[in-house]
Amino acid sequence: MSNTVKIEPLSGPIKGSVAVSGDKSISHRSILFSAMSEGTSKVSGVLDSADVRASIEAVTALGAKVDLKKQSDGSLTGEITGWGSKGPKQPAAPINCMNSGTTARLLMGILAPWNIEVEITGDESLCMRPMRRITAPLMLMGAKFSPEGAETLPITIHGNRNLKAIQYESPMASAQLKSAVLLAGVYANGKTSVTEPEQSRTHTELMLSQYGVETVAQTRYAEVSGPVQMKAADLNVPGDASSAAFLCCLAVLLKGSSITVKDVLLSPSRTGFLRTLERMGAKITWEVKGSEGKENYGDIHAEYSPNIKGCEIPAKYFATVVDEVPILALVASCAKGVTVFRNCEELRAKETDRLQAIIDGLTELGASVWTHGDDLFIEGDPDFDLPDGLVMPSHRDHRMAITWAIAGLVGKKSISVEDFDCIDVSYPHFLDDVKKLTKGE
Ligand code: S3P
Repeated sequence: MSNTVKIEPLSGPIKGSVAVSGDKSISHRSILFSAMSEGTSKVSGVLDSADVRASIEAVTALGAKVDLKKQSDGSLTGEITGWGSKGPKQPAAPINCMNSGTTARLLMGILAPWNIEVEITGDESLCMRPMRRITAPLMLMGAKFSPEGAETLPITIHGNRNLKAIQYESPMASAQLKSAVLLAGVYANGKTSVTEPEQSRTHTELMLSQYGVETVAQTRYAEVSGPVQMKAADLNVPGDASSAAFLCCLAVLLKGSSITVKDVLLSPSRTGFLRTLERMGAKITWEVKGSEGKENYGDIHAEYSPNIKGCEIPAKYFATVVDEVPILALVASCAKGVTVFRNCEELRAKETDRLQAIIDGLTELGASVWTHGDDLFIEGDPDFDLPDGLVMPSHRDHRMAITWAIAGLVGKKSISVEDFDCIDVSYPHFLDDVKKLTKGE
């Protein structure tokens, strides 16, 4: 159903402080890992979004008991009793992961070590995203998939109680791939490891230790030794770094703004956007206040930054900004000089072809943008002026929808964003948070 929302330019700066909703990656893992564990986990601060609900429904269908209640801040808090050593139960129907790549891909690793046959499917977008990258290493471990050699969902996984541990040289930096292999490795016989060409986000190897699984977590290398039974944990989900990135970029672009985003996940594998904005000369600082398990969290302070300049984001840091490229690209179009994101190929495999969506959208806005091979170039203009009456397609991709909304909020003329309801995937309260900050709350 079409849902076009007209975003009007803000008449003044954003100020004050805000706490964004829970991190999507950590929320998924808190649900999935609790479901795998023996006993009852207590989780709080869980993001209530369409993607996370896909994980909740999946583990419920597989026999976990999820009892989470909505809190006044919009988050979910409560208990999850896992299937533990009994293993997941055979679900009555296919598991529909909706738009959530994290649910589908991690689930394949979770189900691989059990005597179970489960069809995994998703919405139109998820059914177009590559899955061979996950099934290939899991097949090396002894799981089977049908149809054999399938590239995309729907795919049925046939688990195997005697999975082999593997030492996997991953062809790409992908946390979802790494996580699927490590999660299968928890119940495989021996040491399972993943070596990556570049560092991807490290949540699985860091969070597993909270569930009683010892791991090795190094740059580009993670390891787990199985079989080991996961045990229930208590954890609180820090604020979403990718949601915080949107508000910080809005503050950097909007005259007079000065905001603090509180209690945000500040894991080094997720703070690439902060380092990028800092290198562009933006007024941005952050401070680690504490840790949840092995994950750091803290506050970010961002201010209007009229003198930003372009910079290069090298391939080795690409995965640390992977979900922030759309909004950083918008910031880059307002910076002096050229910004280049090296080796962006992976953007083509996101909820939509994000590389094409960025090029088409920025071109529509009047920015100068091009690719050379897999590198994305943006020539910025500090006097960047948005054209009138634009209708921007989101391609039902939450990160594109919020990026174009921010263009509307900082511009002089309104921008309409198509299918804006897709932001429910990761940041349903985006406009509410912006409204709070316009009141300087
Ligand atoms: C995620 C990993 C990233 C990211 C996605 C969430 C995760 O994908 O883009 O939104 O929770 O593991 P990769 O598999 O490309 O690292």
